[in-house]
Amino acid sequence: MRRCLFLVALIFASLPLTAQKLAATPPMGWNSWNWFAGKVTDADIRKAADLMVSSGMRDAGYVYVNIDDTWEGKRDANGVLHTNEKFPDMKALADYVHSKGLKIGIYSSPGPQTCARYEGSFGHEEQDAKTYAEWGIDYLKYDLCSFRDNMKQAYPNDPDAQDKMMRDAYMKMHNAIVKTGRPMVYSLCQYGFDQVWQWGPEVGANLWRTTNDISANYNSMMLIALAQAGLGRYAAPGHWNDPDMLEVGNGKMSHDENISHMTMWSMLAAPLIAGNNLTQMNDDVRSILTNRDAIAIDQDKLGKQAERVFSGDEIEIWSRPLSDGSVALAIFNLSHDRNVMRGLKLPLKQVGFANGAHARDLWAAKDLGMIKDTNAFTLPTHGAVLLRLTK
Ligand code: GAL
Repeated sequence: MRRCLFLVALIFASLPLTAQKLAATPPMGWNSWNWFAGKVTDADIRKAADLMVSSGMRDAGYVYVNIDDTWEGKRDANGVLHTNEKFPDMKALADYVHSKGLKIGIYSSPGPQTCARYEGSFGHEEQDAKTYAEWGIDYLKYDLCSFRDNMKQAYPNDPDAQDKMMRDAYMKMHNAIVKTGRPMVYSLCQYGFDQVWQWGPEVGANLWRTTNDISANYNSMMLIALAQAGLGRYAAPGHWNDPDMLEVGNGKMSHDENISHMTMWSMLAAPLIAGNNLTQMNDDVRSILTNRDAIAIDQDKLGKQAERVFSGDEIEIWSRPLSDGSVALAIFNLSHDRNVMRGLKLPLKQVGFANGAHARDLWAAKDLGMIKDTNAFTLPTHGAVLLRLTK
């Protein structure tokens, strides 16, 4: 009995450690959904893996190649899930991705059906986790989808019981993954319901979506970004708030809008999961996604997510402390039609630099020398400035 208790204690003590090791810094990679949605194929994933290497993305830290919804086929007589015709051989695909020095991710739902109405993992959690492990999968995005109907049917008038059922479903898949013995990053996708940031770590999550889906435009991106205020204290090495995948390079976002997007996600210690069409990535998009200085802010090992320091007159200023004692400060111009900032004082004192700070402008790759709170920056419409401040 004592030995058994000791073993149980050991397993629980080692869980957070595993989580920390798997996602000591926010996971980085690429996911098929934002560009390919339901059209993604085996060939697209192989091509994405090739391009992540040749574009320099892998060497900049983007290591996960994640297949989102619509890879799923049917279950056989034993309940084992197979791929559909778009993915003829998942094991061979995983081997290919691994041979490029990358890792591979997959997608499912705790419900009977995924959001795109493919087969979900309901009632087959252990079996599916085992299948993923046999294929060599390194990352699972687990999307609530049709499980919401299960929750509503089981407890029509009891939201608390519905929430508990949801948490249990996420825990169940976590246990199933642990049982396989194969480490897999565990990504919760349930759009922030039931304040997931408060219980995500308990169900083994390495990241959890905090909002609804992002779209490839500035307003959607900024709306999500601003909704992250106050969530900083829930992020830490091993488990992160996920404001959704990047849309850098998608839609009609301008250079400055892409800069704001990458700046905000880096400030937020957000998982950097690109979602653009890598076969048509231009140099501008590539250089924004692979900017080493922005990535270093995102990946800072202290793992402290930024919080808002100032908001007003269509300006947002956010800051986060970094492991070497420096501070990242980001200024955003939300205005649709003006360059700013006129007469605004930089909140240097609030972020620990009462007597001014030495500043490096990370996007301009330029040392600015000592700056004072009276320093003004010209920010293009929808643009951002990202500074690293030291004493
Ligand atoms: C949504 C999810 C998207 C994508 C999609 C697939 O619920 O938020 O990121 O995974 O389902 O059907």
